Amino acid sequence: MIGIIGAMKVELEALKARLQDVTVTRISGVDFYSGKLHGTDVAVSGVGKVFSAVCAQTMVLKFGVKAIINTGVAGGLSPNLKLGEVAIASQVCQHDMDTSGVGDPKGLISGINKVFIDADPLWVAKAEKAAQKLGIHTETGVIASGDQFVCDTDRKAWIRDFFRAEAVEMEGAAIGQVCFVNEIPFVVIRSISDDASGHAPVSYESFLKEAAQRAVALTEEMLKEAWEHSKAEGFFLELVEGANFAKSPFCILDEFFRFLLLNGFQAFRNFFFKTEESNWDKTSPKST
Ligand code: ADE
Repeated sequence: MIGIIGAMKVELEALKARLQDVTVTRISGVDFYSGKLHGTDVAVSGVGKVFSAVCAQTMVLKFGVKAIINTGVAGGLSPNLKLGEVAIASQVCQHDMDTSGVGDPKGLISGINKVFIDADPLWVAKAEKAAQKLGIHTETGVIASGDQFVCDTDRKAWIRDFFRAEAVEMEGAAIGQVCFVNEIPFVVIRSISDDASGHAPVSYESFLKEAAQRAVALTEEMLKEAWEHSKAEGFFLELVEGANFAKSPFCILDEFFRFLLLNGFQAFRNFFFKTEESNWDKTSPKST
């Protein structure tokens, strides 16, 4: 099961509308929509910043999600990102985390001792591929989060320069931190609604809906691809595992061939596609 988190209703309307067999569960003030989309169970919820962490943790504990996609809008920091274009996080950080008064680097998350948390490279690649298919320009890099709507040129420049961030928003890094401590892969996909300058509030109001729909379209394309891929893989495994060798007088030999086929297939898949399982190692907490 994959969890999808969006901060505001408008960021998820289009996805929610396409969920089938939906059940709604309210936990800790957050509405979770469980249903089916491209063969993947999706839990969708509206959140704020602390809410996004509550939501991600609930998805892990109550819904058993195996990966989280955070979709929505962001303020663009990079000159290469125009309105409606998409920032994909290779890493997330918290620009408002600051214990520099006691000697830490700005942005350091005490406890895990990190400034930047890696998003899952496989999901990042899936997002880039989906964007290419839809003809959407993307920039992959750092997305900075904080409990602040950034609409100030100095603050914008500081976040851009200090963290080398492409975009700024209010949830992605909180979700990233929850995923990190739970060893769950995640990716953040944000369409640009404003440039985080003094014009940001007006631009945000005007482009919010359009930008949010873009990010959702990309998310859906990703899910579609992931589903097609897992369907093809599942079909092959079923074929090999389901073959009725037991009746054969050479069943020991058959078992041996089945073993070779399965392992050969898995080795081939690992080599060319890298598996979800192998990916988990890369996202588990590393000592710093
Ligand atoms: N989300 C969209 N635009 C934003 C901005 N300028 N600051 C923080 N979050 C945002």
